[in-house]
Amino acid sequence: MQAEEKGVEIKIDAEPASAVIGDADRLEQVFGNILDNALKNSPAQSLVEIAAHNLKDETVEVRIIDSGPGIPPEQLAYVFERFYQAGGVRSGAGLGLAIAREIITAHGGTIEAQSEPRAGAEFIIRLPAGQSLQE
Ligand SMILES: Nc1ncnc2c1ncn2[C@@H]1O[C@H](COP(=O)(O)OP(=O)(O)OP(=O)(O)O)[C@@H](O)[C@H]1O
Ligand SMILES: [Mg+2]
Repeated sequence: MQAEEKGVEIKIDAEPASAVIGDADRLEQVFGNILDNALKNSPAQSLVEIAAHNLKDETVEVRIIDSGPGIPPEQLAYVFERFYQAGGVRSGAGLGLAIAREIITAHGGTIEAQSEPRAGAEFIIRLPAGQSLQE
């Protein structure tokens, strides 16, 4: 799903964050799926926000926020289950978030979903910041 097709603007708000040590291909797969979910659930001409910050406790936090239909509160607990598909756009297999959780957990991080009814969805990923080799 391409942002341009729908006129969705992606706004990136990233401070110079620490590097994360891990498997770049797998981490790309995680962010690719979450962005794909955000874009396919976004209304036309809306905004998807990506915010990346360092938290004080040596953690890098990335939030991906859309303004689509969101995820009903009673379904939030299940979106990371294999094959689970809640409301919203049902394309794909329902595996993306299950795989994302496995990958993030393997990197020592956490992934969670938040959603207010009809106010979009937000995915929050926290990963341990890597140590700079120069220091
Ligand atoms: N940004 C979002 N807005 C609304 N619902 C979402 C969003 N992201 C995920 N979901 C819900 O969570 C379900 C699981 O997401 P997941 O990425 O695992 O599967 P999928 O996108 O349906 O399929 P796949 O990722 O395998 O192509 C989705 O089917 C959808 O119901
Ligand atoms: Mg998906």
